[in-house]
Amino acid sequence: MTVKNGIGILIGVLCLLLLAICFGCVKQRPAALETGEVAQPGEAATVKTVKAVEQTVSVYNVKVTPLTSGECAQCHMDQFTRIKKDGGKHVGVGCTDCHEVYHAYNPLKNNYAEIMPKCSACHDDPHGKDEAVQKCADCHADPHRPVMAIPDPSNIELQCRPCHTQVAQIVTKNPSMHTEEACSSCHSESHGRIPDCSECHENHSPSVTMNSPECLACHPVHEPLQIAYSGEVEKNMICAGCHDVPFDDLKTHQTKHSELACAECHPTHKELMACQDCHGDAPHNPAIHKKYPTCGACHSIAHDLRM
Ligand code: HEC
Ligand code: HEC
Ligand code: HEC
Ligand code: HEC
Ligand code: HEC
Ligand code: HEC
Ligand code: HEC
Ligand code: HEC
Ligand code: HEC
Ligand code: HEC
Ligand code: HEC
Ligand code: HEC
Repeated sequence: MTVKNGIGILIGVLCLLLLAICFGCVKQRPAALETGEVAQPGEAATVKTVKAVEQTVSVYNVKVTPLTSGECAQCHMDQFTRIKKDGGKHVGVGCTDCHEVYHAYNPLKNNYAEIMPKCSACHDDPHGKDEAVQKCADCHADPHRPVMAIPDPSNIELQCRPCHTQVAQIVTKNPSMHTEEACSSCHSESHGRIPDCSECHENHSPSVTMNSPECLACHPVHEPLQIAYSGEVEKNMICAGCHDVPFDDLKTHQTKHSELACAECHPTHKELMACQDCHGDAPHNPAIHKKYPTCGACHSIAHDLRM
C-alpha cells in the first residue's frame, strides 16, 4: 500500500464520519431541546439557539453581603484597633456607617478630602455656632478615637470659654487671683482633668491637713473669695491657722463660748455678730444695761469673757 492510497482512504473515512455526525445531530437536537437538557459536548456551537444560552446558570446569581467592620479590619487593623480601644461612643459606629464611599481615592482627581466621611452627616452643631469650635479636626484629631485624641488643653485655651460659658461667667464676674490664671494652668495635661489644690497651695494651718473637697467647702474654686463655711467646731483649727490669738484666748479662758464653732459667731468671713443677736437686748436688769450700755464693760470680749 502506497502513501497516496493511504491518504485517499483516510479522507474517505473522514467524509463518512462527518456525514454520520451531521445526520446524528439533526436527529438528536429536537429531543434535547424539548427535554431542556444541557447541550451535549459534541454539539457544534453554530447550531446553538438563543434559547439554549438562556438556560446557562448565571455566575452573578449570588447574594452579596457588604464587608463587615471585622472584614475591613483584616487589612486596616490599625483603624479597627484605635476604635476598639479608644473610640469612645464611636465603638457603636461601623466602618461603613461613616465610610459610605471608600477605595475611591484618586490622586489625579485629588479627591481625598471629598471622599472622607463628614462629621456633619451625623452631628449637628454639638458645640453651638461659635466660630472657634467649627473645625472639628482641630480638636478631634483622629475620628477613630475622637475624645482621646483631643490635644493638650493649653493649645485650646482660647476655646474653653465659648464652650464653658457658665464657668467663664462666674470666673469673670468674681475677680480673684484665679481669674488671672489660665483655665488650662489648672485643667492641665488632658481635657477635663480636675487639679488638687495642693498642686499649688499649702494648708492654712500646719496642724490640719485638708484635701481638695474640704478646701472647696470654703472656697468655690472659680470664685475663691466668695468664702462660705458651715459652723463645725473642727473647722476652728483652720481659722486658727490665721487667727491664733482668738483661738488661744478661747482655749485658755474656758467658758461656754469655748465649745462653739468660730463660724457660729462669724457666719461669713469678717462678720462680727453683736452679743444681743444671741442673748437678747436685756439679759440683766434694765437698770444695769442703762448704767453700762456695753456688755464688754463687765464681760470683756467674747473670746474670754473675763469679769
Ligand atoms: C465616625 C466615623 C468613622 C468611623 C466609624 C470610621 N472611620 Fe475611618 N475615617 C473617618 C474619617 C473622617 C477619616 C478621614 C481622616 C482624615 O482626613 O485625616 C477616616 C480615615 C480612614 C482611613 C484613611 C487613613 C487614616 O487613618 O486616616 C482609613 C484606612 C479608614 N478611615 C478606615 C476605617 C476603618 C477600617 C474603619 C472601621 C474599623 C473606620 N475607618 C471607621 C471616619 C470614620
Ligand atoms: C483586602 C484588603 C482591604 C480591605 C478588606 C479593605 N481595605 Fe481599605 N484599603 C486597602 C488598601 C491597600 C488601601 C490603600 C492603602 C492605604 O491607604 O492603606 C485602602 C484604603 C482605604 C481607605 C483610604 C483611601 C480610600 O480610597 O478610601 C479607606 C477609607 C478604606 N480603605 C476603608 C476601608 C473600609 C471601610 C473597608 C471595609 C468596608 C476596607 N477599607 C476594606 C485595603 C483594604
Ligand atoms: C455615621 C455617623 C457618625 C459620623 C459620620 C460621626 N459620628 Fe461622632 N458619633 C456618632 C454616634 C452615633 C455617637 C454616639 C452618640 C451618643 O451616644 O450620644 C458619636 C459620638 C461622638 C463623640 C462623643 C464620643 C464620646 O465617647 O463621648 C465625639 C467626640 C464625636 N462623635 C465626634 C465626631 C467627629 C469629630 C466626627 C467627624 C470626624 C464624627 N463624630 C462623625 C456617629 C457619627
Ligand atoms: C476646640 C476644640 C473642639 C472643636 C473645634 C470641636 N470639638 Fe467636639 N469636643 C471637644 C471637647 C473638649 C469635647 C469634650 C470631650 C469630653 O467629653 O471630654 C468635645 C465633645 C464632643 C462631642 C460629645 C458631645 C458631648 O456633649 O459629650 C461631640 C459629638 C463632638 N465633640 C463633636 C464635634 C464636632 C462634630 C465638631 C465640629 C463641628 C467638634 N466637635 C469640634 C473639643 C472640640
Ligand atoms: C468644644 C467644646 C469644648 C472645649 C473647647 C472645651 N471643653 Fe471642656 N468640656 C466640653 C464637654 C462637652 C464636656 C463634657 C461635659 C459633661 O460631661 O457634662 C467638658 C468637660 C469639661 C470639664 C469637666 C470634667 C469633669 O470631670 O466634670 C472640665 C474641667 C473642662 N471641660 C475644662 C475645659 C477647659 C479648661 C478647656 C480649655 C482648655 C475646655 N474644657 C475646652 C466641651 C469643651
Ligand atoms: C485655680 C484652678 C482652676 C482654674 C484657674 C479654673 N478651674 Fe475649673 N475647676 C477647678 C477645680 C478644682 C474644679 C472642680 C470643682 C469642684 O469639684 O467643685 C473645676 C471644675 C471645672 C468644671 C466642671 C465643673 C463645673 O463647675 O462645671 C469646668 C467645666 C471648669 N472647671 C472649667 C473651667 C474654665 C473654663 C476655666 C477658665 C475660665 C477654669 N475652669 C479655671 C480648678 C480651676
Ligand atoms: C495651678 C495652680 C493652682 C491650683 C491648682 C489652685 N490654685 Fe489657688 N491660686 C493659684 C495662684 C497662682 C494664686 C495667686 C497667688 C497665691 O495666692 O498663691 C491663687 C490664689 C488662691 C486664693 C486667693 C485668691 C485671691 O484672689 O486672693 C484662694 C482662696 C485659692 N487660690 C484657693 C484655691 C483652692 C481652694 C484650690 C483648689 C480647689 C486652688 N486654689 C487651686 C494657683 C492655683
Ligand atoms: C473653713 C474655711 C476654709 C477652709 C476649709 C480653707 N480655707 Fe482658704 N481661706 C479661708 C479664709 C477665711 C481665707 C481668708 C480670705 C481673706 O483673706 O479674706 C482663706 C484664704 C485662702 C487663700 C489666700 C491666700 C492666703 O493664704 O492668705 C488661699 C490660697 C487659700 N485660702 C487656700 C486654701 C486651701 C488650698 C485650702 C485647703 C487646703 C483652704 N484654703 C481651706 C477659709 C478656708
Ligand atoms: C488664710 C488666712 C485666714 C483664714 C484661714 C481665716 N481668716 Fe479671718 N481674716 C483673715 C484676714 C487676712 C482678715 C482681715 C484682717 C484685717 O482686716 O485686719 C481676716 C478677718 C477676719 C475677721 C474680722 C476681723 C476684724 O477685725 O474685723 C473675722 C471675724 C475673721 N477673720 C474670722 C475668721 C474665721 C471665723 C475663720 C475660720 C472659719 C477665719 N477667719 C479664717 C485671714 C484668714
Ligand atoms: C461666742 C461667739 C464667738 C465665738 C465662738 C468666736 N468669736 Fe470671734 N468674735 C466674736 C465677737 C462678738 C467679736 C467682736 C469683738 C467682741 O466684741 O468681743 C469677735 C471678734 C473676732 C475677731 C476680730 C478681733 C480679734 O480679736 O482679732 C476675730 C479675728 C475673731 N473674732 C476670730 C474668731 C475665731 C478665729 C474664732 C474661733 C477660734 C472665734 N472668733 C470665735 C464672737 C465670737
Ligand atoms: C452666736 C451666738 C452668741 C453670741 C454672738 C454671743 N454669745 Fe454668749 N453665749 C452663747 C451661747 C450659746 C452660750 C451658752 C449658753 C448656755 O449654755 O446656756 C453663751 C454663753 C455666754 C455667757 C456665759 C458663759 C459661761 O461660761 O457660763 C456669757 C457671759 C456670754 N455668753 C456673754 C456674751 C457676750 C458678752 C457676748 C458679746 C461679746 C456674747 N455672749 C455673744 C452664744 C452667743
Ligand atoms: C454691770 C456688769 C454687767 C454688764 C454690763 C453685763 N453683764 Fe452679763 N453678767 C454680769 C454678771 C456679774 C454675771 C454673772 C456672772 C456669773 O454668774 O458668773 C453675768 C452673766 C451673764 C450671762 C450668763 C447668764 C447665765 O444665766 O448664766 C450672760 C449670757 C450675760 N451676762 C450676757 C450679758 C450681755 C449680753 C450683756 C450686754 C447686753 C451683759 N451681760 C452685760 C455682769 C454684767
